[in-house]
Amino acid sequence: MKKSITCIALAALACGIASTALAQQRRPEAVIKERQSLMSMQNWALRDLSMMVKGQRPYDQALAARSAALLEVTNKMILEAFPLGTESGGETRARPEIWTDTEKFKQALARLQAETPKLTEAAQAGTLDALRGAFSGVAKGCDGCHESFRAKR
Ligand code: HEC
Repeated sequence: MKKSITCIALAALACGIASTALAQQRRPEAVIKERQSLMSMQNWALRDLSMMVKGQRPYDQALAARSAALLEVTNKMILEAFPLGTESGGETRARPEIWTDTEKFKQALARLQAETPKLTEAAQAGTLDALRGAFSGVAKGCDGCHESFRAKR
């Protein structure tokens, strides 16, 4: 009896060690690259929208809807992309304040997240005028966070 309890305890310990090892497999450098890719995808959507708003390409309702949908998803992934331990360890422009002033970082994110659904609504409305207003709100949401939390080049 005593022996089996020891066995269970040892198994639990081994399991704990294995999961720690698993967490450590995600090197900061890999996570940093991942979040930069996430940001690049957002930029893709924003660029398409910007070109329509500026008249550099014709208004396309399907493209507006796709861009809005992409941003709805990627916005919700941003917080996960900045785990503790990834403030260094790769080429990153993330400022340390993300981890020392996390509440402010979350507020900046919340501002963007409040704007994105308006983009979805504008895409459904299907007019360039509707898109214009919503686009500017979203772009400000991106810039607002970069201003405080992304290092200048
Ligand atoms: C809550 C903060 C925050 C929001 C909101 C945000 N970003 Fe970022 N973004 C960052 C930070 C921090 C970095 C630097 C990441 C790094 O280098 O590790 C970054 C980096 C980038 C980059 C450079 C990626 C690269 O390859 O190095 C682009 C492009 C970008 N963001 C676009 C956007 C767009 C477009 C939006 C809005 C739809 C947006 N971001 C919203 C914080 C934010």
